[in-house]
Order: sequence, then structure tokens, then C-alpha cells
Amino acid sequence: MQHLQNMKVMIKVMLIVCHCGGSSSDTTRQLSVLVGADVTLGCLFDKLSRLVEWSALTVEWNVVDTHAEKSVVYTFEDGRAHVNREGSEVDRMQLLQSDASLQLHNVTVGDEGLYSCRIITPVVYTETTSLEVLARPSVLLPEKAAVTEGEEKTIQCDITGFYPEKLAVTWLILNGSRTVLAGLSPLSRVCTEMAIHNADGTFSIRSGITMHSSAVKGGEMSLMCQVEHKTYSRPYNTSVTLTVQAPPQPVYSDVTLIALTSVTSLLLVSAAIGGALLLYAYLSPPSVSEISKPSIVYAQVQTDLRCTIRGAGQRELRVR
Ligand SMILES: *[C@@H]1O[C@H](CO)[C@@H](O)[C@H](O)[C@H]1NC(C)=O
Ligand SMILES: *[C@@H]1O[C@H](CO)[C@@H](O)[C@H](O)[C@H]1NC(C)=O
Ligand SMILES: *[C@@H]1O[C@H](CO)[C@@H](O)[C@H](O)[C@H]1NC(C)=O
Repeated sequence: MQHLQNMKVMIKVMLIVCHCGGSSSDTTRQLSVLVGADVTLGCLFDKLSRLVEWSALTVEWNVVDTHAEKSVVYTFEDGRAHVNREGSEVDRMQLLQSDASLQLHNVTVGDEGLYSCRIITPVVYTETTSLEVLARPSVLLPEKAAVTEGEEKTIQCDITGFYPEKLAVTWLILNGSRTVLAGLSPLSRVCTEMAIHNADGTFSIRSGITMHSSAVKGGEMSLMCQVEHKTYSRPYNTSVTLTVQAPPQPVYSDVTLIALTSVTSLLLVSAAIGGALLLYAYLSPPSVSEISKPSIVYAQVQTDLRCTIRGAGQRELRVR
């Protein structure tokens, strides 16, 4: 509610500023409005010398949108109003006072464009206003995150519902009183995805930072997701606290205990039988298989080489 009221106050201030900035018919005025708010596009025509009949007055509001498509928003003709854009209106009482300003309720991204009013009294009067629509992003970042010692952790910063598309995301590491740009060391990587175009015309984007536990000095660090957008007068900051946690200890359940006991007893029985056979095998040398390895071995990448040793009778076995 508070937020909505702030928005309305802001829009009113904008309107006042724009009204003062000159309303002559040959200049295009600029107006900015946040999505979901109401806006009034001004159109003050010359005072009527006498009270004209409604039938003598025609008001036409047109818009050329961002795709250069022209459409009729609202018309007043022969004493009747035709509303093409739902939630648009010209106040009749104001109209009698030479004010054909258009009110647009619940503005959406699609309302952006160049608006013009055309009044025929029958003297023709026109006025244009360029309406810019803005949508402030919602930024979602977890407050806390944990990385397992020796592993990596990816933290996502979700930025949704903004307009226009231009937006910058920066990850910063808070180190004491200093902030350092993240993603520059091999221990932290930043990946910002392409913006998604939402059905309501706004955009959403996701940015992730992957940190290795060894980059976290002193067991804890603060990471900041900083967003820059036209709707912010200064960068918007949110931060997450990243802590290092010990690797999880294996937990033995009753089932594994029973399984372990069974396996152990089975091994003891096999050992007794195997003992006799081993005595025989002790005398013969072990057989070593071919070394198996992946078909491609990359430089500086750890690769597993395997070989199987069979029939090792000797107590000591040296593998080189
Ligand atoms: C404003 O418009 C949006 C999208 O068209 C709609 O979801 C919302 O309910 C509208 N709000 C009001 C107050 O009319
Ligand atoms: C934080 O700053 C200290 C010195 O001020 C430096 O030694 C350390 O590497 C920095 N840590 C990170 C993660 O940049
Ligand atoms: C966010 O941090 C930057 C510096 O990193 C600062 O310039 C800006 O004012 C901060 N924004 C807010 C809203 O505090």
C-alpha cells in the first residue's frame, strides 16, 4: 500500500513538472509512468468563445505505439464517447472547461507510445505527448547460503518484471569495508542469462555466481547482487551471506547395520573356504590385465587409468 502511494505521489510530481514545462501545441511533452499506475495526458485547447453544443465538439485521442502502429484510444463525437482502450476516459465536466485531458487507468507496457489529441470545435487543435512506461524489477536473492568444504555453490539472483529491457547485474564481494568485483578469479564465476520477454511485455533475467569454498575466507563472506535500471536513481543492492559447512558425515541406519553384519559373516565363511584355495594359488604369479584408459586424454586434466590384477597370491604386491 505504502509503495503504491509513493508511486502515485511520484506520478503527480512528474505531471506537475511536465505541466510547468510548457504546454504549447507544437512541442511534444515527455511523460514517464510506472506500470499499474494511472496517468493523465494533458490536452488544453483554446477557450470556447461560447458554450458550444456537444454535437459541434469532436475529441480524438490516437496513439502510435513502439511498433509504429497507430490506433484510436478514445473518441468523443456527437455527444457520445467511444472507448477503445479499456480504462481510458475524458472527463465531460473538464471538457466544458476546454480540457480534453485523457486519463489512462492501470497502465501496461503496451500503453507506451506517442499520444495525440485532436479537438475540432470546429477550430482544429492538436497536442502530442510521448508516454514512457517503466516497470521496476523485483530482485530475489536468498539471505543465506552454505557451501560444502571442498565444493562449489551457485547462488541465483532472480530479477523479474522490469521494463525497459536495458539492465545491468553486477556481483560484488564484500571484503571488510571494501567491495571487490566478483567473477574475476578462478574461484568464482558469474553467469548472466539472456533476458526473457514476459507475456505482459516486461522482462526477466537470472544471474548466478558460483563460488568455491576456498574463496570464502574466514568461513563466511557477503556477496552482493547489484542491479542498475532506469527505475532506480542509484544501484539497487541485495546481499547474501555465504558460509562454509563441513562435509556431511555418513549416517548408519539400522538397515545398513544389518546388511553390514550379513556381509561380514558371509566374508568369514568365504574366507574359510578360500583359505584352502589360496594356499594353492600362493605359488602361482598374479596376472595383470592391459591398462584401460579413455580414448582421449586431455592435457592437465586428471584421468583415470585402470588395470585388473588377478591371482595375487603373495602377501606383498607392488604396483608401478
Ligand atoms: C491492471 O492490469 C493488469 C494486467 O492487465 C491486471 O492483471 C490487474 O488486475 C489490473 N489491476 C486493476 C486494479 O485493474
Ligand atoms: C580480502 O582482503 C584481504 C586484504 O585486505 C585479502 O588478503 C583477501 O584476499 C581478500 N579476499 C577476497 C575474497 O578478495
Ligand atoms: C549500492 O552500492 C553502491 C556501491 O556499491 C552505492 O553506490 C549505492 O548507493 C548503493 N545503493 C543503495 C540503494 O544503497
